[in-house]
Amino acid sequence: MKVTVLGAAGGIGQSLALLLKVELPAFTDLALYDIAPVTPGVAVDISHIPTSVKVKGYCGEDPSEALAGADLVMISAGIARKPGMTRADLFNINAGIVRDLVAKAAKYAPNACIGIITNPVNTLVAVAAEELKKAGVYDKRKLFGVTTLDVIRAKTFVAELKGLDVSKVKVPVIGGHSGPTILPLLSQAYFENKKIEFSQAEIDSLTHRIKNAGTEVVEAKAGAGSATMSMAESGARFATAVIKALAGEDIVRYAYVEGDENDGYPRFFARPVRFGRNGIEAFLPVGTLSDYEQKLLDESLPILHEDIALGEQFVREG
Ligand code: LMR
Repeated sequence: MKVTVLGAAGGIGQSLALLLKVELPAFTDLALYDIAPVTPGVAVDISHIPTSVKVKGYCGEDPSEALAGADLVMISAGIARKPGMTRADLFNINAGIVRDLVAKAAKYAPNACIGIITNPVNTLVAVAAEELKKAGVYDKRKLFGVTTLDVIRAKTFVAELKGLDVSKVKVPVIGGHSGPTILPLLSQAYFENKKIEFSQAEIDSLTHRIKNAGTEVVEAKAGAGSATMSMAESGARFATAVIKALAGEDIVRYAYVEGDENDGYPRFFARPVRFGRNGIEAFLPVGTLSDYEQKLLDESLPILHEDIALGEQFVREG
């Protein structure tokens, strides 16, 4: 197996590379690419860590060697937001970066799975899908927006509030990856096999915190960027799970993916999916929503539709 990180010298990319060196299954190849000249040095640096993951770094304008033969391409390249910005404000710069990298992936790793970390995820996954279609290699089972950070934040905040062992807490998070579209399903939160009960005040404050957790980091970093380490950790969790699934394990994770036509959701929607040897094997049901969650979902759907249309239009109209 080979994993390629595009944007590997950035704030997320370096931590992601480090975590993948430590967490990927033995004998996976790890290719690090970034335009920045430091990238081969990042690879040499982490290559001294004693795991059997083999790492190589590439820099400059051409990612083709880094991409050749990749099974999974993780894209974290692009700029991060500053206080007062939404993720959507990054579109003008990041859309071109992701489109160009996906075009290269389509050429040099046409069968690879692609995980998009770069924001705005809601829109850039649509950009990637259109670019892959243009190249004639789009397979919806192999393109994912990484929303694992929303899931791990939800677990963490619920465990903190309720004083529970976080490793035994499960909270589904569906929708998209932006304040109005992230939708935690607290009505389906479990501690081991037991449903977790919340007061309405707890539901209000947790839902608000989970939806706005990215902004909590942006504000705390006070102009120095957005989440890098927690984003890298969630990207590494996701990538490791996908690689294990490609190698034959049956794995369920949440991701922002293109579902079945006429399933009632926007074209792309974060939901539970079963991964296997070919990427996504099945879309799993999101379960029954509470009235509170259904209302939030209904409010978010027009926003998601717009986010997706913007991405499609960007590629179709050049
Ligand atoms: C996050 O959720 O932390 C990331 O999407 C970065 C951001 O801009 O919030």
